[in-house]
Amino acid sequence: MSIKDKIDRHKLPQHIAIIMDGNGRWAKGLGKLRIFGHQSGVGAVREVLEGAIEIGVPYLTLYAFSSENWNRPKLEVQALMELLISSLSKELKTFQQNGVQLKAIGNLSELPEKIRKKLTETITATKDNTKCTLTLALSYGARDEIVGAVKKLATQVEAGTLSVDQIDAAAFEQQLYTAGTPDPDLMIRTSGEYRISNFLLWQMAYTELWFSDKMWPEIKREDLFEAIFDYQNRERRFGKTSEQI
Ligand code: FPP
Repeated sequence: MSIKDKIDRHKLPQHIAIIMDGNGRWAKGLGKLRIFGHQSGVGAVREVLEGAIEIGVPYLTLYAFSSENWNRPKLEVQALMELLISSLSKELKTFQQNGVQLKAIGNLSELPEKIRKKLTETITATKDNTKCTLTLALSYGARDEIVGAVKKLATQVEAGTLSVDQIDAAAFEQQLYTAGTPDPDLMIRTSGEYRISNFLLWQMAYTELWFSDKMWPEIKREDLFEAIFDYQNRERRFGKTSEQI
């Protein structure tokens, strides 16, 4: 029985978030440049997206570029941006054929004009697709996102359109980039690192975490299926006791 066949289709995680880590180390291990790792990482993105569609996961969020990644060597940042543009161009057809809707979260105004344009084009072209929402976190940092949400609420209070009493978790969530998207049920991180790295800090309050020692370019859809199978065998208690579940 394959790992895919072991998955219970009625208990699928609705949203999977992924920290795609290890491109650089994988390439270095082969004596190649870091960018070769990123290029090869696109293949793993395709594998995981196809796997998510195949099995029926409706939301997939990928940490493609963090707000801290701007500090990397200029050439690597440039190459990553080019790679994103070319990948979006190449994948549009696949998105349309498979009902994939593209979204982007993060401080998108910091991205080069060329990539913002390509993103807007792709987001508009795929806006009516309903099978799977693929969200790319770009120039994304969760602390910035949270501070931004606080500022938006404070501005409304200052303007007299919101009272302090009306501020609750639901009102707060409305101000996050992810408003309208369910919280991730499962977060996957590759490359043997066990950190959250400023990714979806608010949204991952009850997310199940799954780690792989494989480097991102080595990831295949079967790894996604394994993570889902493992997730299905966990007990999510949300603060309750086992007996209450
Ligand atoms: C982390 O590996 C990976 C990134 C910072 C970039 C991820 C980008 C891609 C997989 C390619 C394009 C993506 C899409 C959505 C088409 P790392 O460089 O931090 O690896 P290291 O920890 O080994 O140095």
